[in-house]
Amino acid sequence: MIYLDNAATTQRKPPQVAEAVAAAMNTLGNSARGAHRGALDAAHTIFAAREKLAALFGCPRADHVVFTGNVTEALNIALFGLAEEGDRVVSTVLEHNSVLRPLYCLEAERGIDLHLAGADRQGRLDYGELERLIRPGTRLVVCTHASNLTGNVTDVRRISQMAHENGALLVVDAAQTAGTRPVNMDDLGADVLCFTGHKGLMGPQGTGGMCIRPGVEIRPLKYGGTGVQTYLPQQPPQYPVRLEAGTLNGHGIAGLSAAVDWLKETGLERIHERETLLTRRFYEGVRRIPGVTVYGDFTGDHAAIVSLNIGSRDSGEVADDLAQDYGIAVRAGAHCAPRMHEALGTKEQGAVRFSFSWFTAEEEIDAAIAAVEQLASE
Ligand code: ALA
Repeated sequence: MIYLDNAATTQRKPPQVAEAVAAAMNTLGNSARGAHRGALDAAHTIFAAREKLAALFGCPRADHVVFTGNVTEALNIALFGLAEEGDRVVSTVLEHNSVLRPLYCLEAERGIDLHLAGADRQGRLDYGELERLIRPGTRLVVCTHASNLTGNVTDVRRISQMAHENGALLVVDAAQTAGTRPVNMDDLGADVLCFTGHKGLMGPQGTGGMCIRPGVEIRPLKYGGTGVQTYLPQQPPQYPVRLEAGTLNGHGIAGLSAAVDWLKETGLERIHERETLLTRRFYEGVRRIPGVTVYGDFTGDHAAIVSLNIGSRDSGEVADDLAQDYGIAVRAGAHCAPRMHEALGTKEQGAVRFSFSWFTAEEEIDAAIAAVEQLASE
């Protein structure tokens, strides 16, 4: 199979990731739940992973790296833990349902005053509208670093200036960029940076988390055991345990930790450069094929994602043909990004998404271009 669904989950991982998970499963106890060797090893493994992720994302304190099961959980914790009754919250139509659905729920249940900035037919965010929407009294701004549908990269620095000039906090969804390029909280101006382990970070599914700028106070979403301050009726106030009730995925975190070592050795700049070359190669190959419509803005910085349609064919059928006749794995349909599809005019058809990784070979890109050409000629 030619695997081009890396925006959903990277499938080819550095081998040391699975080795680290297997070793952890055979040795670790429960972090902060004992003083025996296995428990201490778990605590050490998890804290080392926090330190590595803090260094990777420029989080000033390792204890402000909180682990979750995925980016959706991290975003839920951030949004439900920051937005108060009646708060003005501004986001964008580029967002994944992991942002939109919590915000719609907060609108219905806490009466937040929610506004989404729009995008054009190429999925480019309307920064002018965003600037008008973010005004003094705005509590929270939430934006993706890159659209999971078009791959367009958001100018987060610019949005952070708008947010901070108006006294708002900025939550960034780095699902599609973490591990694929340098992502630094300070450079972006993020107050909370949410990430997932199983995509560009090359870790196992079931890992993810958030980096919190010191001073940002997030209420817990879940309550329970932490292994510390057991007689306190409330959730302990200090990060990370404030937001980490229950046993952590120590086995997965051990794998994520090994993945971060690999990213560091390989170099994020190199990874970004390679993925950009692969993306550009595919885009240049498909954009001129008669009948093919490519979505997104390829004039600047772009994530390793290219979404397209062939004529008016249903995107799901095209993806099935690619899988069955050409052995190419992609994602089709709505990609959990309903408002982005509305902006692109692809609500009914969906789109066929090709997404690449460091491990994608040039020959695989060329085979995918040839398959699209063949399907478009039928
Ligand atoms: N959010 C992931 C995607 O875009 C699963 O495919």
